[in-house]
Amino acid sequence: MEIKIQKTAAPKQKPTDENNLGFGKIFTDHMFVMDYDPESGWHDARIVPYGDISLSPACAVFHYGAEIFEGLKAYRRADGGVQLFRPDANIERMNNSAERLCLPQLDPEFTLKALETYVELEQDWVPHTPGASLYLRPFLIGTDPFLGLHTIQKATFMIIASPSGNYYAEGLNPVKIMIEDEDVRAVRGGTGYAKCGGNYAASNRAGAKAEAKGFSQVLWLDGVERKYVEEVGSMNVMFKIDGEVVTPVLLGSVLPGVTRRSCIQLMKDWGMKVTERLISVEELFTAAKEGRLEEAWGTGTAAVISPIGMLSFKGESFVINDNKIGPTAQKLYDELTDIQWGRKDDPYNWIVKIDRK
Ligand code: COI
Repeated sequence: MEIKIQKTAAPKQKPTDENNLGFGKIFTDHMFVMDYDPESGWHDARIVPYGDISLSPACAVFHYGAEIFEGLKAYRRADGGVQLFRPDANIERMNNSAERLCLPQLDPEFTLKALETYVELEQDWVPHTPGASLYLRPFLIGTDPFLGLHTIQKATFMIIASPSGNYYAEGLNPVKIMIEDEDVRAVRGGTGYAKCGGNYAASNRAGAKAEAKGFSQVLWLDGVERKYVEEVGSMNVMFKIDGEVVTPVLLGSVLPGVTRRSCIQLMKDWGMKVTERLISVEELFTAAKEGRLEEAWGTGTAAVISPIGMLSFKGESFVINDNKIGPTAQKLYDELTDIQWGRKDDPYNWIVKIDRK
């Protein structure tokens, strides 16, 4: 399928202070759009000026949460070129999310071409400042304009982009996380593994409560026993206990993070012991009390590697690694960002270069 390109007649001023971009606040000049219906399949792929869209107020996305999304980044190399990190993994996950929500599947090859074509057009928006990148947000919505609860027939897929800095204001400084004991994010058989808007909407109440108490976000517990830690919502979590890295196993209620997957591979290749399993809060608190919990950190596309300096549960808190980033989190951050920004060779074939045409 051909991608039609309509360039904006009024390009926006690019941010002058790349050290204070924040996250997801500024948008580039264009957006990618394509539509789906059962008769034509995906059609009318186009890149058009960024702007508001018009939809029927009866659309399924507004009433029944028919929405999935992804997050990935375009990075500026020292030689001026631009590259993506594991876009194939995001496309694969988006199709898994689409399957769960009965939204139409994307053609992986065409979706990669769409990302490449879009980033190639917007490449002057990729920041030059270390640590800043162009955050890409592909999303897919159900657009059937009627109120019956039904599987989706019509859909729209879009990509927008935002030059962004750190997700957490703390940057690489440790964040304080509260373990949530009332609300739950997901249960097995639900949509926890899918990247759908509803999971995030359902997490807002607990997030607001945590923020009011001075925490950055919540760490979710499993929805059945309320005993095992799952994920933070904006990132997966990893703990180093007695020299071994443990991370919650993916049993359907945890998002299979691309950064999570990459970190596991890196640590295994460094010869570290990494185990994916159930981890109870009790185990964490006991390990912390006995001085065996050496490090904790989150992994995510937006958050990259975010050290956790304090965990709190039902009013009891413990500080981790003296509230400092630990050696494993630092090594992961360095290795990952070196590969992402092209400062190091990529032995894994994770990088897709976008060449200026
Ligand atoms: C990402 O890390 O890309 C996400 O989608 C998480 C979101 C809360 C910003």
